[in-house]
Amino acid sequence: MRHVLVTGGCGFIGSAFLRRYVPAHPEVHFTNLDALTYAGDPANVESVAGCPNYSFVHGDVRDRTLVNQLVKQIDGLVHFAAESHVDRSIVDSSDFVTTNICGTHVLLEAARQRPGLKFVLVSTDEVYGSLSEDDAASTEDSPLRPGSPYSAAKASADLLALSFVRTYGLDVRITRCANNYGPFQYPEKLIPVLVRKAVAGASLPIYGDGRNIRDWLYVDDHAAAVLAVLQRGQAGRIYNVGGDSARRNLEIARGVLTHLSLPESRLEYVRDRPGHDWRYCVDDQRLRRELQWKPETPFEAGMRQTIDWYLEQGEWVERALARGQAATP
Ligand SMILES: NC(=O)c1ccc[n+]([C@@H]2O[C@H](COP(=O)([O-])OP(=O)(O)OC[C@H]3O[C@@H](n4cnc5c(N)ncnc54)[C@H](O)[C@@H]3O)[C@@H](O)[C@H]2O)c1
Repeated sequence: MRHVLVTGGCGFIGSAFLRRYVPAHPEVHFTNLDALTYAGDPANVESVAGCPNYSFVHGDVRDRTLVNQLVKQIDGLVHFAAESHVDRSIVDSSDFVTTNICGTHVLLEAARQRPGLKFVLVSTDEVYGSLSEDDAASTEDSPLRPGSPYSAAKASADLLALSFVRTYGLDVRITRCANNYGPFQYPEKLIPVLVRKAVAGASLPIYGDGRNIRDWLYVDDHAAAVLAVLQRGQAGRIYNVGGDSARRNLEIARGVLTHLSLPESRLEYVRDRPGHDWRYCVDDQRLRRELQWKPETPFEAGMRQTIDWYLEQGEWVERALARGQAATP
């Protein structure tokens, strides 16, 4: 592969992918297409901005003319760009529909002009919907039962992509990953929220009774899974990406308190998110068996690193929050 277009490379996961693989693969040119919404920050990719094999295009995946132009030069595409916060999708799902569905459609249509283009669509375990405590893990063949406007928009994009595989023979591969954690995550997501509140002396908000379960994966391990799928995955195949680290939300909050030597009394149970999914859990044996991927970062070590990163990055957090506030109607 000589030229890879990465969408959403200024966000949390896309920037981890670029920080890791731009320096590691000088033979590949990476073009980062990002609209710089409130969730995107060029500072997240500052470490690679000067690399000769990196370029940045400030633009929108919904811009058909721009995307058609960019796709002419590439032989790989990794599509991270999305509206990604469930709570925001509950308040107003408009951008979730236009970016996550229509934006993906624009990329798929453009990809039809580039036979042989390898296209990785970065999706989520949330498309499978909520599991009960006893349900078996979702496999790639499990039905899609998205429960939020966010996950419904992601599932729609997955289905469109699969239809383009079947109808036009496009080489799209889909990853469906568990919850990510790590540095540079926009501070409206669970772990950075908990750290921020803890540091500010505020109470740590927990939805409902805090017993909801998520599986957690360190962001660099997700980036490695995406690269493996881009390099060695099979056309039209779906790959679940798990973290082997299922935790109740309450355990996550307690972990933050313990790391910061703060008392349990700092927890505050708040009204549950409407339609809050109980549990996600994917079976990722396909990815492990076929592409020899596995998570490398033990959860407790990754959490300690992540919490410490947020403690040191007060300025980054404040800047991100200011962008988010300005983008909230
Ligand atoms: N964060 C997770 O835990 C998680 C888990 C599984 C899958 N995913 C998926 O991974 C991808 C990346 O997630 P993230 O957490 O890094 O998201 P993020 O919100 O941190 O970043 C999204 C990036 O996309 C950009 N963007 C948004 N709309 C755009 C548009 N119309 N055109 C171009 N750029 C646009 C933003 O500016 C931002 O840089 C998403 O597709 C998400 O659904 C995330």
